[in-house]
Amino acid sequence: MKTKLEELKNQAIEEINKIHDLKELQELKIKYLGRKGELNTIKRGLKDVPPEERPAIGELANKTAAEIEQTLSQIYENLYRASVSQKLEAEKIDITLPGDYVAYGKQHPLTATINEIVSIFYRMGFTLVEESNSPEVETEYYNFDALNFPPEHPAKDTQDTFYTINAPNLLLRSQTSNSQIREMEKKMPPLRVISPGRVYRAETVSSRKNNLFHQVEGVMVDKEVTFGNLKGVLNEFTRQFFGQARPTRFRTSFFPFTEPSAEIDVQCIICSGKGCRTCSGSGWLEILGSGMIDPNVLRTVNIDPEVYSGFAFGMGVERLAMLKFAINDIRLFFNNDVRFLDQF
Ligand code: DAH
Repeated sequence: MKTKLEELKNQAIEEINKIHDLKELQELKIKYLGRKGELNTIKRGLKDVPPEERPAIGELANKTAAEIEQTLSQIYENLYRASVSQKLEAEKIDITLPGDYVAYGKQHPLTATINEIVSIFYRMGFTLVEESNSPEVETEYYNFDALNFPPEHPAKDTQDTFYTINAPNLLLRSQTSNSQIREMEKKMPPLRVISPGRVYRAETVSSRKNNLFHQVEGVMVDKEVTFGNLKGVLNEFTRQFFGQARPTRFRTSFFPFTEPSAEIDVQCIICSGKGCRTCSGSGWLEILGSGMIDPNVLRTVNIDPEVYSGFAFGMGVERLAMLKFAINDIRLFFNNDVRFLDQF
């Protein structure tokens, strides 16, 4: 029996060492150590062994079982390790590879410029006009007449302004100034509002002019609002928008709805004031119109000019964005060429 056990052990270990997978391992385990396995078959012959030899043989049987068990678990561990590293190898990723490019949307430079302008005025206490007070399809009255334009003003000509064919006095607004009138008509001072929006002009399209562009209108009305307030607010705006390094100047001007009127120029970004084609040799570029609201306009919206005064301003968004980002063609804003838009 002793030799049988020896042989069994050797045979088992030899077979175990040859296996390839966990399934075979399981089969061998049953074959040798299972309830009906070979070891038990041999052990059943223990009853035929003389009693004095039984303990030694029994011990040997247990030892044999332990050795087979140990070989099995060693092989099990090897197989398990191998399968894990095979899996890791198969699922390996190269974390040093560059990632896939994912195109994501960006704010359009005009939107970004409008947002910046609006936030500068927010910080000075201005709020947005109600959207319903700033329509793009407007009547002649709000776009011109209420703003003190004389009946024969050239801007009212169809050469400059798009009229609709739906009604004789309906047009696409040529300026955001219509929103001043609508806002002042509905609200009493103190008023401090701005209103960004689209405006339309019947012009020949060029690198400097487009039929559609954007303005931001502003108006402040209260008791004792002075030209000093106008200057303070607009100087602060240009300082924040362009930074201290870029000089600006106030220049007297004329608008039908303000008296006195002033335009603000910023030093030409192309030639830094030396004079070039962009600034027609003057060294300056106009960025906004402004002035003290004409008493006639206040009377039209039933605000008493003896009690209240105010200032207003209007700026071209494309113009400001072109100066800030050194863009030389207004049409770039509207072509939606991703190579252009991607730069912002
Ligand atoms: N509406 C004028 C334009 O389109 C700009 C402007 C000038 C607006 C003076 C104003 C202002 O409110 O006071 O050229």
